[in-house]
Amino acid sequence: MAKSIEALRHNLVKVRTGRASTGLVDSIKVVAYGSEVPLSQVASVAVADARSLVITPWDKTVVGAVEKAILASDLGLTPNTAGTTIRLNLPALTEERRRDLTKVVHGEGEDAKVAIRNIRRDANHQVKELLKDKQITEDECAHRGRDPEDHRRGDQGRGRGGEGQGSRADGGLSGHAGPPADALATNALAAHARARHVSAQPAPVPRHLAIIMDGNGRWAQQRHRPRLVGHRAGARAVKRCVEFCLQRGIAALTLFAFSSENWGRPAEEVGGLMKLFLGALEREVDELHRLGVRLGFIGERERFEATLQARMQAAETLTAGNARLALTIAASYGGRQDIAHAARTLAEDVAAGRLRPQQIDADRLGARVALADLPAPDLFIRTGGELRISNFLLWQLAYTELWFTDTLWPDIDAAVLDRALADYASRERRFGLISDQVRRPSSGRTS
Ligand code: FPP
Repeated sequence: MAKSIEALRHNLVKVRTGRASTGLVDSIKVVAYGSEVPLSQVASVAVADARSLVITPWDKTVVGAVEKAILASDLGLTPNTAGTTIRLNLPALTEERRRDLTKVVHGEGEDAKVAIRNIRRDANHQVKELLKDKQITEDECAHRGRDPEDHRRGDQGRGRGGEGQGSRADGGLSGHAGPPADALATNALAAHARARHVSAQPAPVPRHLAIIMDGNGRWAQQRHRPRLVGHRAGARAVKRCVEFCLQRGIAALTLFAFSSENWGRPAEEVGGLMKLFLGALEREVDELHRLGVRLGFIGERERFEATLQARMQAAETLTAGNARLALTIAASYGGRQDIAHAARTLAEDVAAGRLRPQQIDADRLGARVALADLPAPDLFIRTGGELRISNFLLWQLAYTELWFTDTLWPDIDAAVLDRALADYASRERRFGLISDQVRRPSSGRTS
């Protein structure tokens, strides 16, 4: 929810009114030094007065490229250049422009409402599933979504649970009658987290699926083709897997696309993979956005070239408000590096006096590793026949169910993935407890 609102804020900042704001030029991309980079990476931007912005490229050789980028953007402003300073003057609003603006802002608001409605729908679905599986009680279901704000407003309008709460046409943005979707989702996840310790039955479908996509090279070799042909087939398999998750109601999918160690592969393969990633981002992001997928990346992205980094950032910004599927691509990622980074941030906090060493525990460290905003993966799949974790999500997989298949990644399809899901559904997740405890909720409950 916060991300949807942040995306709305981001989009509204970009709307050109009569008032100068640096956010107006945030999305401008400049072709400089052989790649496309955000304007902020080649110039400083300042508000000169209420109606003008001053852009100062750090290197005079890119002044022309910045001018070109401004003209090519949809801002409708003409750069006024003197030496290395580019001034953008914003004309006062006409009546017509004011009317257009109203429409643009209305459109942005509608998009945000749709995103929030999706979150609400997903949360309602999760709650219903939890209720069906008896992982939460009717009572918990009835109280879902209550937050302190509502009590302060004296909102008496809610009944017990029920579908109607999630079905307001405005997604609850403007009204007081429905539970806030954030609270709804949080409660559903919290209830699920508690249920993890009391239920022998895993959720019918994993909420979070993590996959090592192995076997592209062998798939290509079997066909006497270069390894990159296998990676290209692997990219097509990624699409099938995303579609599968959307169809089965899986809320999060994390794919291992490129490990920290993969940088050591032959330069030709690394270069080919980079092109493949860039091409996939260019081709697929709009469609993923349309499907309600929120795209994210984990790993040391600063190791990628600027164009790819910019595309990753743009994809994250564009899809930030989506809630049907959280698709995370682990790229230049290593589990050990992830944990080491988390430990370093804690050490920095200790050194700065923000944290005492005694306060460091698993929860604190867990909050600093990648994917901390998602439930831990319920199911891990590795294709390609190898039986190892290969430095993927070492922290996050502590209690994940593991499933391995000989199927090479480019051959993955719904039938194989359904087998994994069926196996997962048959497992008893005990989280360190004993069977009796996880079977009888009353015996293991802590709160
Ligand atoms: C492992 O197979 C696979 C990789 C290192 C690359 C994964 C990349 C893709 C699936 C393609 C594109 C992905 C996205 C997200 C667009 P391997 O090369 O180690 O295979 P092998 O074990 O048979 O040699």
